[in-house]
Amino acid sequence: MLGLSRRELLLGSAATGAAFATGGLAARAANSPDHTLTISPYEHSLLPGIVTRDMMSFAPDGPPPVLRMRRGETTVIDVQNTLNEASVVHWHGLRIANAMDGVPYLTQHPIEAGQSFRYAFTPPDAGTFWYHPHCNTLEQMGRGLTGVLIVEEDEDPGFDMDIPLNIRDFRLGGDGQFIEMFKARNAARGGTYGTVSTVNWQIDPVYEVPAGGLVRLRLAVTDVTRVGTFGVEGGVAQVIALDSNPLPGPMSAENILLSPGQRADVALKVPDEEGQDVTLFLRRPNGDKALARFRATGTSANRQLADLKALPSNPVPRPDLANAEVIDFVFGWSPEGDAPQASICGSLGYTFWSINREAWPGDVPGPLDPLARMKLGKSYVLRLRNESPNAHPIHLHGVSFQLLRSNKRKLPPLVTDTALLLEEETMEIALVADNPGDWAFHCHVIEHQKTGLAGFLRIED
Ligand code: C2O
Ligand code: CU
Ligand code: CU
Repeated sequence: MLGLSRRELLLGSAATGAAFATGGLAARAANSPDHTLTISPYEHSLLPGIVTRDMMSFAPDGPPPVLRMRRGETTVIDVQNTLNEASVVHWHGLRIANAMDGVPYLTQHPIEAGQSFRYAFTPPDAGTFWYHPHCNTLEQMGRGLTGVLIVEEDEDPGFDMDIPLNIRDFRLGGDGQFIEMFKARNAARGGTYGTVSTVNWQIDPVYEVPAGGLVRLRLAVTDVTRVGTFGVEGGVAQVIALDSNPLPGPMSAENILLSPGQRADVALKVPDEEGQDVTLFLRRPNGDKALARFRATGTSANRQLADLKALPSNPVPRPDLANAEVIDFVFGWSPEGDAPQASICGSLGYTFWSINREAWPGDVPGPLDPLARMKLGKSYVLRLRNESPNAHPIHLHGVSFQLLRSNKRKLPPLVTDTALLLEEETMEIALVADNPGDWAFHCHVIEHQKTGLAGFLRIED
């Protein structure tokens, strides 16, 4: 039982290299991090006049901070886990070295209660990203552990203001306290929705923005379940990037379909007249819901969207489609439904889903087999077939991919890390396997991920 697998031995040496002893102040001062995240129990007033207990944050004294860093520069982030359970932090969408990817057992040991881990990585791409735990994920994300991460472009594109928007729900009862994180019958279908919609942990916040100015709205959908259509109304607004990658041309910001894990950068020209509002809506069949407002203040700055420099594209290699090997994946029900194995990273106690008819056994030391092996440097087409009547935002760590085609709709040639696979849709995506390691590959509806719809791809020499 206590025998160490080869993977654990390998992780052991890697972990010692990157970990630092809490309290080693002299050593830390000599080599201080760019950011410190303290995973903390937290209390916060989400509903007016009510303190929600048993929340979790990445800071002891506020909501998860927005992390800003520069493309091509190494960032050091110390994570201290002050929860009384294990955790681990993943940097969603960043194409960084495998050992820094923050997936329990696949890339590192979970950071146990009271322990710390030093992450250091160099983001190759600019854009809007986010970070979250990959251990007891439904519970920890559900209680608050989702934060926005921004990698700045080399050259300032020319906005007057930049507003990160961490869009997510919390699952609270009428008394403002958490209710059960999920219902099994929902986990086997579309997932369990939260009850309170927030932006930056606030209900319908109002941001003052310069009248006639240019504002960059960074929408990051960090919810555990909700696939939504978002719209910006009241000013001139255009989507300029999706999932950190600039679009070939601007797209309307009226109906932006985003699933858990996805981001949209919106360029907004604020109305010229003081006091006018721009609203971010969640579109709903029974009436749109205002999520946040942006209020024009001051005399007009008289800017135009045309003043902005186009965002430079990220250096994601283009797949060689003529020579790409095709790999098939099928996402569906779990064939037998054995309960997942116990793990210090938690389990929901059910198995409902599978990839290629195999359900993920849980976050366990393994060794586990990859769903597929890819050769370093080669191009691949992944054919993703959803045989279920539910949508699945399929996310791949470590490499970005290009959307090719679908049997259901015309796909724009987007480069992304998370693709929404609609019910019974088959989609082809393409990538260059340029980043070696074991990369998690899973649905970002966390209940699906935690009840089987997960696995990993191996890229090797
Ligand atoms: Cu955003 Cu594996 O996750
Ligand atoms: Cu990720
Ligand atoms: Cu799913």
